[in-house]
Parts: sequence; structure tokens; C-alpha cells
Amino acid sequence: MSRITLKVNGATHTVDVEPSTPLLYVLRNDLSLQGPRFGCGLGQCGACAVIIAGVATRSCITPTSSVKGEVTTLEGLAQHGTLHPIQQAWIDEQVPQCGFCQNGQIMTAKAMLDRNPNPTDAQIRESMNRTLCRCMTYYRVQAAIKRAVKTMTGKEVVA
Ligand code: FES
Ligand code: FES
Repeated sequence: MSRITLKVNGATHTVDVEPSTPLLYVLRNDLSLQGPRFGCGLGQCGACAVIIAGVATRSCITPTSSVKGEVTTLEGLAQHGTLHPIQQAWIDEQVPQCGFCQNGQIMTAKAMLDRNPNPTDAQIRESMNRTLCRCMTYYRVQAAIKRAVKTMTGKEVVA
């Protein structure tokens, strides 16, 4: 076991785990952050996505000892009780069906928009196309991202 210190959603935590323990397990089991989901456990679906130092990262295949930089989970998006515009757009567009993949959709979208606040339609599709949804909410995900862009920048997404 190793003592590993992580900064998550602005707070510092020290956990006692095997260095190879997936970050997802630490977040869910040790820090009680249940936003990231266990889907495939193989890095293929995106349900477990968190943002590490600005990059959407699949926490199910990320050894905790390898984490460099601050971790943001879904719980870290709302500020002072106010939902992030992306979360609000998700509600306004009624995106989720079963909801299982939606952590990954939102966190992947957040990392993309932090990097590129005015994406084109094609750039949104390209950034989101490896985050899987078995309920096929892809069109609503796309609509919610466009709505969030409009809210945050005042600009429409172009094709
Ligand atoms: S649970 Fe991590 S990518 Fe599927
Ligand atoms: S909403 Fe059900 S898997 Fe995406």
C-alpha cells in the first residue's frame, strides 16, 4: 500500500491504496464521488471520465499513482449551488435516458469546450464520438452542447 495525495474538486485528499488501484475506485469508494461510473472497466465506453489537468481521462484505466494534476469530477462542475451551463443545458434538452453514460458525456463535453469554446458541429462530433451511449442519446447530447456554447459565448455553433 502507498499513501497517495490527490487534489480533487479543489480539496486535497490522502488515500492509502495500492499504487495500481484505478482512480475510479478511489473516487467512488474512498472519496464517495459517485459521478464517474463503472461501465466497461476497459477504457472503451467513457462512463468513468473525469478531467485531469484539463484532459478528459478514463479513470477506470488510470492508476491512482499516475495522476498528475488536479482531478475534476462531475461533482466539481457546479459552483456554490449553481449548475454549470453544460449541466443546465443537459436538463433543458432533457438529454439522459437511463443516465448511465451521462457522466462521461458531460465531462468529455466540458473538457472539449474548455479547450475550444466555439467548436463546429463536426468538431463536437469528433470530440464526442468515443463516448458511448447504449440509449442512443447522441442527438440530444449534440443539442445540449450547442445550447451550452450559446449560453457561454453568445454564439451559435456552425456546421
Ligand atoms: S468504465 Fe471506463 S471507459 Fe468504460
Ligand atoms: S443514457 Fe443510457 S447509456 Fe446513455
